[in-house]
Amino acid sequence: MIKTTLLTSVAAGAVLAAAIAQAADPAAGKQKFEGTCSACHGANGISVVPIYPNLAGQKGEYLVAQLKAFRDGGRQNPIMQPMAKGLTDTDIANIAAYLSSLNQPGAAPQP
Ligand code: HEC
Repeated sequence: MIKTTLLTSVAAGAVLAAAIAQAADPAAGKQKFEGTCSACHGANGISVVPIYPNLAGQKGEYLVAQLKAFRDGGRQNPIMQPMAKGLTDTDIANIAAYLSSLNQPGAAPQP
């Protein structure tokens, strides 16, 4: 009985997590990105500075993982850590949704 309840709540949690992931708002992410990040990572996530990585078309889950790692200290970089410090989980999900929706430089348009 307890086991069933536990399983049910784990399943409910997974459904909720999926719902939150789907609720990411790329338009809000674009706004945030253009306000802070595009100075280095370029308009549309394509950097013109060799030491700053392109972000356009990167996998969303990877972007979420990297931004959380910068924010929480698992990935150390003196430039990016302060950039990620102020981001909420929602900001990160939105920015990742925006960037992953873009085409990579030189790639054919996404179907
Ligand atoms: C002052 C310049 C600068 C700004 C502003 C900046 N970044 Fe970065 N970003 C960098 C540099 C430099 C790196 C490479 C870090 C490293 O070598 O680990 C990087 C790396 C990243 C990565 C990891 C890319 C990868 O391939 O692993 C992500 C994601 C990222 N930035 C997102 C953002 C977001 C989102 C913002 C705005 C909130 C932002 N950056 C603002 C300079 C900047």
